[in-house]
Amino acid sequence: MRRPKVLVTRRIPEEALRLLSSHFEVDYRGKDTAIPRSEFLRKIKDKEGLLCVLTERVDQQLLDAAPKLKIVSTYSVGFDHIDVPACTKKGVLATNTPGVLTETTADFTWALLLAAARRVVEGDTYMRAGRYKGWDPLMILGSDVHGKTLGVVGFGRIGQAVARRAKGFAMNVLYYDVQRVFPEIEADLGARFAELKDLLRQSDFVSLHAALDARTRHLIDAKALASMKPSAYLINAARGPMVDEAALVKALKAGRLRGAALDVYEREPKMAAGLAKLPNVVLAPHLASASLETRLKMGMMAAQALVDALALGKSPAHPVNKISEV
Ligand code: GLV
Repeated sequence: MRRPKVLVTRRIPEEALRLLSSHFEVDYRGKDTAIPRSEFLRKIKDKEGLLCVLTERVDQQLLDAAPKLKIVSTYSVGFDHIDVPACTKKGVLATNTPGVLTETTADFTWALLLAAARRVVEGDTYMRAGRYKGWDPLMILGSDVHGKTLGVVGFGRIGQAVARRAKGFAMNVLYYDVQRVFPEIEADLGARFAELKDLLRQSDFVSLHAALDARTRHLIDAKALASMKPSAYLINAARGPMVDEAALVKALKAGRLRGAALDVYEREPKMAAGLAKLPNVVLAPHLASASLETRLKMGMMAAQALVDALALGKSPAHPVNKISEV
């Protein structure tokens, strides 16, 4: 029997590859680097399924080069790299991997927040440089976290998981989203809705958890940064373009913000000029979901979507668009 052809653009966990190989003719690139665009356009030509990652643009050009494509399964919860309306128009289903990375991403957000507030990376660098000469009352002083105000921007699954962890730090939690959550959820998480401008003014830590779209691009611009407390920290483990990164560098340099912790960048993998020189930022290479357990779950979920759609004739569990038939 003819096996559908699928393209897998990156190295993925072996278990996920095994699942795919048991149903498909897999064109497996098996590399940890981004697929060159020309190779992507060439390889997609005869494929019915695609398993891709968030650095790979699935746009009109790619769809035009893929006459047989039925499903795009992204190994991520975010899908701003996929032109979803263009997929829908072409009858291509798009799926993502929500849920399985929520708690892992929230954990990492806290790692960033705590590292920035308590200057963990600076301390590490200090030790490795052999500069530690013994305890000193005024050495590498950070900011308290407990009892402060956390402002969560974007209050979906991940934002709420971040807020839940704030309870353990006895924090006051504000949240902003285009839509308020049910009062029971607010009560359960001890979170209060605030308009964005109020949240920015009042929070000691502002943490971003919205999806990237036209509304959230540069949501944190120079004006938003200027409205934050000079003692505040900005945490971004969502998407880089939500922040005007050059404006952030300026604000940090000018001391208009005490610190930042970033897992994502406006032009990944590049960083804004000057960012990496600042001591008061913690920088991570898009690691928020990067635990062994979660990356395996994401891989299996992304693979299962292809199996469901192309081998079992089932609707995948996590579509991001609606197609009448795959
Ligand atoms: C990571 O950024 C994801 O969207 O899964």
